[in-house]
Amino acid sequence: MNGRNTLTIIDNRTGKQYEIPIENHTIRAMDLRQIKVRDDDFGMMTYDPAFMNTASCKSGISFIDGDKGILRYRGYPIEQLAEKSTYLETAYLLIHGELPTKQQYDAWTNKIMTHTLIHENIKKFIDGFHYDAHPMGMVISAVAALSTFYTDAKNIMDPESRKLQIYRLVGKMPTLAAFAFRHSVGRPYVYPDNELSYAGNFLSMLFKMTELKYKVNSVLERALDLLFILHADHEQNCSTNAMRSVGSSHVDPYSATAAAAAALYGPLHGGANEAVLLMLDEIASKNNIPAFVKGVKEGRGRLMGFGHRVYKNYDPRAKVIKKLAEEVFEVTGRNPKLDIALELERIALEDEYFIKRKLYPNVDFYSGLIYQAMGFPVDMFPVLFAIARTSGWVAQWEEMLLDPEQKIARPRQVYLGSDSRDYVMMGKRSESKKNKP
Ligand code: ACO
Repeated sequence: MNGRNTLTIIDNRTGKQYEIPIENHTIRAMDLRQIKVRDDDFGMMTYDPAFMNTASCKSGISFIDGDKGILRYRGYPIEQLAEKSTYLETAYLLIHGELPTKQQYDAWTNKIMTHTLIHENIKKFIDGFHYDAHPMGMVISAVAALSTFYTDAKNIMDPESRKLQIYRLVGKMPTLAAFAFRHSVGRPYVYPDNELSYAGNFLSMLFKMTELKYKVNSVLERALDLLFILHADHEQNCSTNAMRSVGSSHVDPYSATAAAAAALYGPLHGGANEAVLLMLDEIASKNNIPAFVKGVKEGRGRLMGFGHRVYKNYDPRAKVIKKLAEEVFEVTGRNPKLDIALELERIALEDEYFIKRKLYPNVDFYSGLIYQAMGFPVDMFPVLFAIARTSGWVAQWEEMLLDPEQKIARPRQVYLGSDSRDYVMMGKRSESKKNKP
């Protein structure tokens, strides 16, 4: 250490030396722009497909230490929030930065729960979908449609307007999700019951039949609330990046949320717990586990629900969910796939292949088992994720808007296409390998 907090770069092309300041263990990509061979050069850029090593923002919302298996929201360990908090309190924390006082919590809960109703016309959109439309496609479209009802939402620089849209988004997502579900099973829509909790009301809108008041099972209500807490935020993942990136064009938050939800829809992001269930079905019996694991090690498929880009240790959310599974199964009856999952985990965690690659269960390994036992069809899994993640998305959206360093997200590219060439008239063109139909 020479006391200087800089990175020295010597450009072998010119022999010039540059001192690049280091701040928060990072260098600013823009500081590389001064590295040029000639004065009229554009300057040096970094090439980082998929943002493998690029911080796109400064954030104070969630923190992950993947090697140690740590996840914190605003500094609070996820395990403590899972044990002591509620989803709405956690949402308040993510959005406001601090845990609420009793008075703040009551006011916040009241605001969210009085913004659960949706305009009657939204029902018409949902009615228009095919009977077997994927509920996630319906939710993405419906949340985008909300922007046409709340035209005030475009006033994104007005703090009061932002507040109102946040109440609406957090409040209405479960309603949109439940209506999409009811449409897909051909049942009448159930209107929100604001006397129930956030999770309890959602269960009512999903599963209420002809009874006057839905009787919420408190274990399932708490389980769903806890699953929402665990999925509320996860720093700069694909959908959060979509929220920030689309929001950086200053579009309204409903349109940005639709983009984030679309990113979440992809099987590489919100769809892995469904893949876990399919895998457990394929294994079918504990006796088949050794052969399955052998196949994975030989490159025939992956052990779904294992491994993570960031966690190289047990995903802290998976630990909480594993414990929760036992509580839920006491009410719903044991999902027979749990025994296969437990044995699969035991075998994998003792196996050199998984140990060497630091592959541990991730959040999706057990969550699908719980959702299935609670009566959710697999295509509702990403929708549940989207409800929970909405609080994280809006917190990250607002942080991005208020960050004076942020501008419209607009990456650079390395152009490797054709050099300048003259237009050729159609009759004079010949077929090349590239344009063969
Ligand atoms: N089963 C078997 N081998 C695996 C698995 C797995 N689940 N995950 C990684 N590996 C192996 C890879 O084959 C590779 O081995 P190699 O070095 O011999 O080639 C090594 O571990 C590193 O894997 P990468 O693909 O480089 O890891 P990456 O960080 O890109 O992938 C991912 C992370 C996509 C999550 C991966 O672990 C995976 O596919 N897991 C299964 C799917 C899954 O559960 N996804 C949910 C993630 S959580 C979420 O999105 C909410």
